[in-house]
Amino acid sequence: MLHMLSLPLLALNFASAWAAPMCSLRSATATSSASTTSSTSGSAAGGTSTSPPSSGGNTTRNDDIVATTCWSKYTSVTYSFALTTPDVNTVSLNSDDEQLLPQFVEAAHNSNSKAMLTVGGWTGSQYFSSAVGSADNRTAFVNAVMGLVSTYNLDGLDFDWEYPNKQGLGCNIINAQDTPNFLSFLQELRTAAPNLTLSAAASIVPFAGPDGTPSTDVSEFAKVLDYVAIMNYDIWGSWSSSVGPNAPLNDTCAPSADQQGSAVSAVQAWTTAGFPANQLVLGVASYGHSFHVDQSAALASSSSPSSASSAQPAGTTPLAAYPAFDASQQPMGDSWDVSAPAGVDQCGNPSPGGPSGIFNFGGMIAQGILDQNGTAVPGMGFLFDECSQTPFVYVPQNQTMISYDDPQSFAAKGKFINEAGLRGFAMWEAAGDYQDILLDAISNAIGIEEVGC
Ligand SMILES: *[C@@H]1O[C@H](CO)[C@@H](O)[C@H](O)[C@H]1NC(C)=O
Ligand SMILES: *[C@@H]1O[C@H](CO)[C@@H](O)[C@H](O)[C@H]1NC(C)=O
Ligand SMILES: *[C@@H]1O[C@H](CO)[C@@H](O)[C@H](O)[C@H]1NC(C)=O
Ligand SMILES: *[C@@H]1O[C@H](CO)[C@@H](O)[C@H](O)[C@H]1NC(C)=O
Ligand SMILES: *[C@@H]1O[C@H](CO)[C@@H](O)[C@H](O)[C@H]1NC(C)=O
Ligand SMILES: *[C@@H]1O[C@H](CO)[C@@H](O)[C@H](O)[C@H]1NC(C)=O
Repeated sequence: MLHMLSLPLLALNFASAWAAPMCSLRSATATSSASTTSSTSGSAAGGTSTSPPSSGGNTTRNDDIVATTCWSKYTSVTYSFALTTPDVNTVSLNSDDEQLLPQFVEAAHNSNSKAMLTVGGWTGSQYFSSAVGSADNRTAFVNAVMGLVSTYNLDGLDFDWEYPNKQGLGCNIINAQDTPNFLSFLQELRTAAPNLTLSAAASIVPFAGPDGTPSTDVSEFAKVLDYVAIMNYDIWGSWSSSVGPNAPLNDTCAPSADQQGSAVSAVQAWTTAGFPANQLVLGVASYGHSFHVDQSAALASSSSPSSASSAQPAGTTPLAAYPAFDASQQPMGDSWDVSAPAGVDQCGNPSPGGPSGIFNFGGMIAQGILDQNGTAVPGMGFLFDECSQTPFVYVPQNQTMISYDDPQSFAAKGKFINEAGLRGFAMWEAAGDYQDILLDAISNAIGIEEVGC
């Protein structure tokens, strides 16, 4: 990889109580930066996905984030989300976001971070397909997003289309020509805005081509985008057939049934399709998914080969890998989680409601599952899975297993970013961290110079 010192960047999501930001890197010369965004929901691997309950914006929390974020540690911060609408001329921000976005941009600029806005996300991708569906619409959509750039003094735009020619939320418009149309739109936008940072958040395989399978050549996207951030999370979750890693670094070392995607396989897929590694940003998660697992299934049997290693924290009990879980008893996540009432979803389909089960790293510390350094406390079950290089913790009192990321897994991802020659990382979401423990772990592993706040 190019030898360069990089600073991480991140994106914040102020829009909703569960969503998050991301981070990525910039070179020490500060000429370029990568930032990215992602959605906390959806199986990037293409399986089922869940729609997270939206609790609406908590403006108190959002104000806290603006006040407490160490902005200077990020090269870019991304505000999520602006939403596509049925009218190609309108990209919408809700009223809370209209109020917060200017504060966000000002805080970023005060720390010389680039301020970006993400368009789309899990619930905001319904009308991407029609917005780029004809030459006239693409021109109108370019004008619409450029209007946001000038209104809010943005340095860049991030497109989180979940997903071109592949259903996400359930009622997105999709079309066989989505990916070529997306490229045409980005080419027109790049011509209109040669100096704007442009990025896309994408799944662990390249955008689907007209036949619905991943495109085999996405090299033209690399000419118009500064970078693509791979959303390497939500690979396993409540929709999966067993407990598994939310954000695996590797899966090629796992049993074949457990090879659902990973950073290793995603980088392989994107680079094989002609996208340069040095324009790829690894999306990393400051949150985990929880599962209800019986104690008998959760704990490693003494006869099974123990994955317990030097990483086993004092006083914790080794766990089994990939145990079965009871999907009918989704645990409540951390204090940011809400139990959504049963009703109809954004698509008008019946929805059972219930919690998302998401635990942010900081929320796990607040609940006393992890100590102030992010280490599992005595009495918990714990496994650091050697293949995915991610931790699992088990709370025996309430039979809750959580697949998450910790400083060790973030450091492993930072090392991989260097080895694979990637551009940086994007963390979803900044506010999920605790005292920058995760941010510092990945930054140090990459060799990013430490900066004060
Ligand atoms: C909103 O966030 C603040 C600060 O993080 C928190 O104290 C408060 O309980 C939250 N309110 C709700 C309704 O979740
Ligand atoms: C263009 O956008 C309009 C909405 O503004 C939409 O009704 C129409 O279907 C779009 N055209 C295409 C070809 O997608
Ligand atoms: C882009 O940046 C270059 C170099 O700073 C500048 O000369 C040019 O005017 C800029 N173009 C636009 C469209 O802002
Ligand atoms: C992923 O696993 C494969 C197969 O065990 C191994 O060769 C490779 O080094 C691993 N890569 C990383 C980054 O851990
Ligand atoms: C599960 O256990 C943790 C740690 O003891 C506790 O903080 C949390 O409130 C419990 N959750 C429920 C739903 O009982
Ligand atoms: C956290 O780490 C520091 C430095 O290694 C150590 O001094 C401190 O005791 C640790 N705190 C806990 C709660 O383990």
